[in-house]
Amino acid sequence: MAGPIASPRIGVVGTANVDLVVRCRRLARPGETVLGDDVVSLSGGKGANQAAAAARLGAHVWLMASLGDDARGEWLLEVLRGHGVHDDYVRRSARPTGTAFITVDDRGENQIVVSSGANADLDLADVDLGLFDVVLAQMEIPTLVLNDAARRSRHFILNVAPAAPVEPDTFTRCAVVIANEVEAESFDLSTLKHCVVTMGAGGAVHYANGREVARAAALKIDPVDTVGAGDVFCAAYAVMWARGSSAQEALSYAVTAGSLAIMALGAQGALPTDEEVTTWLARA
Ligand code: RIB
Repeated sequence: MAGPIASPRIGVVGTANVDLVVRCRRLARPGETVLGDDVVSLSGGKGANQAAAAARLGAHVWLMASLGDDARGEWLLEVLRGHGVHDDYVRRSARPTGTAFITVDDRGENQIVVSSGANADLDLADVDLGLFDVVLAQMEIPTLVLNDAARRSRHFILNVAPAAPVEPDTFTRCAVVIANEVEAESFDLSTLKHCVVTMGAGGAVHYANGREVARAAALKIDPVDTVGAGDVFCAAYAVMWARGSSAQEALSYAVTAGSLAIMALGAQGALPTDEEVTTWLARA
């Protein structure tokens, strides 16, 4: 990567959803009904969350997503613009805007079911991905789009969430793969140039060709809601990677940003700024 860039150009390829969130005392087991609080509608989707988080951290961010041509899609677009995300590559589809059904328990743990809707129509045909310093993607998007993005990006970072098989050629093209502990069980990280494994309250580890090169501890915070914390981590890591930071700097920054994201309800409810992250890092 060329010299340091304070405000890199980041392209995020991913989903945008309306998150319908219900808080309940504990999560339901299979076949069980539990009662919850009033439902709230929040902006979400792994792509939109990562785009919003990267913009809040000071990057120039373009989201490549597909929204329904409906009121929910219009609302998500307004929220994204409010976060400072460029919408030049957000397309509209005849299918309904994606929706995630989320329950969050008293400990901040969650269960999520996503109805992809318009996200399934995502298409990058007219986007020049070479414009971006880094392209960041997740696994909620169509496989063909994912593989195309990996092929045409200068530096491609893949968040393997939710876990699903990845074509070997796409893995080979990743500058960095980011996964949580469970997702990381689905592939051999020793075959990857750079792989970051997140462990929730346990922090994160960076492996280069299977060898640990950096480790960072999470902040000790009582979680309100952990939905989207992984997205903030990925965005922060991508921003630092694009800025030319070392593995340790990027990891510590991303873990801190992810920790700060769990202090309010909603995936985009507590997105930290660059100043907030660096202030917490200086205290640690
Ligand atoms: O990572 C959290 C996100 O996953 C939620 O915002 C939900 O929309 C799903 O995409």
